[in-house]
Amino acid sequence: MSSSSPDERTLVLIKPDAVRRGLVGEILSRFERKGLRIDAMVSRTMDGGFADQHYAEHVDKPFYPPLKTFMTSGPLVALVLSGDQVIEVVRAMIGSTDGRKATAGTIRGDLSLSNRENLVHASDSADSAKREIALWFPELA
Ligand code: CMP
Repeated sequence: MSSSSPDERTLVLIKPDAVRRGLVGEILSRFERKGLRIDAMVSRTMDGGFADQHYAEHVDKPFYPPLKTFMTSGPLVALVLSGDQVIEVVRAMIGSTDGRKATAGTIRGDLSLSNRENLVHASDSADSAKREIALWFPELA
């Protein structure tokens, strides 16, 4: 019997800018080549109320109104990824928030020049992953 702990899960959004730019395949391919599994995936356009729920911790921040406009501006792809330490692994793969400063080799570092239109969102902790997966994919919770 294996002594390793069960794989973690994380919630990833491939944001409307990535869909518009035709980068969904490029981004999914990076996750697949890393060895992560796609447990669920859907294309969806968020409405304002759902954006407020997803970004509950940011709704009072000054950058939130334009972020909400951007995130509701068109379809995005939501997915659940699983794998060993997937939350930390995916955060490292996407890079820091500001695409202008993100390290080369990361998704944002290679493909984004923006602090807002930064192509991907990924859960930042086990608690966030649990909450976000329950919001987007209640059937998995
Ligand atoms: P994300 O990882 O989805 O988490 C919150 C999002 O808010 C972030 O990616 C960016 O899209 C956006 N964001 C965070 N900080 C700023 C900022 N200072 N200015 C504009 N957008 C921001």
